[in-house]
Amino acid sequence: EPLSKYELEGLKAQEPQGSFLTFIMVKAVVLGASGGIGQPLSLLCKASPLIDELALYDVVNTPGVAADLSHISSIAKISGYLPKDDGMKQALTGADICIIPAGIPRKPGMTRDDLFKINAGIVQGLIKGIAEFCPNSFILVISNPVNSTVPIAAETLKQAGVFNPKKLFGVTTLDVVRAETFVQDITGERDPSKTVIPVIGGHSGETIVPLFSQAKPTVEIPQDKYDDLVHRVQFGGDEVVKAKDGAGSATLSMAYAGFRFAERLLKASKGEGGIVEPTFVYLPGIDGGDVIAKETGCDYFSVPVELGPSGAGKATNPLGNVTEKEKKLIEAAIKGLKGNIEKGVEFVKNPP
Ligand code: NAI
Repeated sequence: EPLSKYELEGLKAQEPQGSFLTFIMVKAVVLGASGGIGQPLSLLCKASPLIDELALYDVVNTPGVAADLSHISSIAKISGYLPKDDGMKQALTGADICIIPAGIPRKPGMTRDDLFKINAGIVQGLIKGIAEFCPNSFILVISNPVNSTVPIAAETLKQAGVFNPKKLFGVTTLDVVRAETFVQDITGERDPSKTVIPVIGGHSGETIVPLFSQAKPTVEIPQDKYDDLVHRVQFGGDEVVKAKDGAGSATLSMAYAGFRFAERLLKASKGEGGIVEPTFVYLPGIDGGDVIAKETGCDYFSVPVELGPSGAGKATNPLGNVTEKEKKLIEAAIKGLKGNIEKGVEFVKNPP
């Protein structure tokens, strides 16, 4: 006998930490849904058989985007909300997964850190809504600078008394996707997604560390190509910012990457085993994260994490088995990350 929506809600309420039951019916929310990333990401969510209900939230244009997507003959029931008429509450109530690509993107000459001033407040406002209306939801933060917006999200959730580190993810998948793609030029692999390359650290410039030595299957990078390849993964976003010439940063590849992470998380939450993805998490709250936090001196770090029904499962410590070159990259990443993390934490603890 299929359960009614009412009965499912009752079961959900009894399973606050997330469980198999929570994900029989999946409600996803995209916050910032009308933007360059938000629209194609919403399209991918609407087309996914893993999502039963999709709510779009933005300060502009969501009724139009939702009406457009509603003509697609997939299963997800779709609705669009603006801040008026309690729109945020309506969008978020009952959500199982919230994906946040809200905020301004880079223009040429800007670093991700330059976005902090505006995006910090946007992310904090949205997280406050999540804390109030769907505190048990998975939260995927795309808005930059991820190195700071994830600590902002965590501190905001802590203040509200609903922080679950296993359910908060900084989306660094685009760095993984770029590493897979760029290494293809060297390996000649026909399907680049078949090469698994852990990318660790943070999500900006030198804080991004691809570990080609841990690629599976093994990849041989010629010495004379290594530095350029690492630089391209770290600064690949700049190629897009430059080519778009003032019209923004990566949107389509980011929507692909964000959806890929969300899809894998949903599959894992429905019981599929063996799904491991690098993601920027609060290490002390993750199984196996303490050791990595101690070694790096960073509470937040992107590491490969096994995904499961409660969200982030065991974190893999990638630090023990790295080359001398990778060790230097990790040192530089840690240096940059510490300041970014501190800035996010301070924003919430001692508001400007
Ligand atoms: P965009 O400007 O095209 O879209 C942003 C959307 O957010 C707009 O529709 C805007 O109305 C909305 N928005 C602004 N304030 C809001 C609020 N308070 N509540 C709800 N919606 C709000 O920007 P784009 O290109 O989609 O980028 C979005 C963010 O994603 C930027 O911060 C960008 O830096 C970041 N990004 C992250 C990547 C990653 O790998 N994690 C990769 C590429 C971009």
